[in-house]
Amino acid sequence: MSDIPERLEKAVEYISARAGMTPEVGIVLGSGLGNFAERAEIISEIPYEDIPGFPRSTVEGHKGCFLFGKVGDTPVVIMQGRVHHYEGYPMEEVVMPARVMGLMGIKTLLLTNAAGGVNKSFKAGDLMLITDHISAFVPNPLIGRNFSGLGTRFPDMSEVYDSALSGRIKACAEKLGTELKEGVYCQLTGPSYETPAEIKMLSFLGADAVGMSTAVEAIAARHMGVRVCGISLITNMAAGISEVPLSHEEVKEAADAAGERFGALVESFVSGLSE
Ligand code: HPA
Repeated sequence: MSDIPERLEKAVEYISARAGMTPEVGIVLGSGLGNFAERAEIISEIPYEDIPGFPRSTVEGHKGCFLFGKVGDTPVVIMQGRVHHYEGYPMEEVVMPARVMGLMGIKTLLLTNAAGGVNKSFKAGDLMLITDHISAFVPNPLIGRNFSGLGTRFPDMSEVYDSALSGRIKACAEKLGTELKEGVYCQLTGPSYETPAEIKMLSFLGADAVGMSTAVEAIAARHMGVRVCGISLITNMAAGISEVPLSHEEVKEAADAAGERFGALVESFVSGLSE
């Protein structure tokens, strides 16, 4: 029997006693948004490692903590660093932070990530609004006993990425003069990057970008009725499209280079949610 509901309850109790506020919007920072917290007024910081029963990130360059504060007038919780399935965590642990944010009362979740470009019209440095996802290659985070306090056994996924929120992101990009691509994100387990044959397959299947996170968090949030939206930063063209071998360093460099543009878009969108 899974102990996830009890662990979630304990984590929420621990965090609520220290957050100092009630967030309305959750923001998951992917690579490229490592400095985003500078755009927020932070009032408290809670490292994952201090939270009882919580998974902790082992990836270099992924700091693991919740930050509570405001972006503009919008009360937010920021997930700085996520845990990934490839670190050895089962999916039900991977989505614990997203569920904790839902239990703390967020109404909206913005997911961000670094991704490889599968769509040949993309280039490294592009931002892509996530319009839908393919999660069929990774274990579903809702497998196991359904926690009916969170949501229904068979949740609808016909519009995971909320069209009204996506419209707002597009309007912000236009106002900032930031080019914004759109497309379908496919989550694989990693940690190895894909082969050219796998990328060709994903392209046939309708994917525009590929990465190792996000879709399962979106599923867990939708299960709870949280509205979801997402943006990928295309850090590289995927294997076989790009002629050069992929490296985590290249991904990190491209992510850092786009940080300002990405951060400005997220700040504009999130601060506008309080209006
Ligand atoms: N593949 C998978 N995940 C990624 C990639 C990629 O090419 N780039 C950044 N994250």
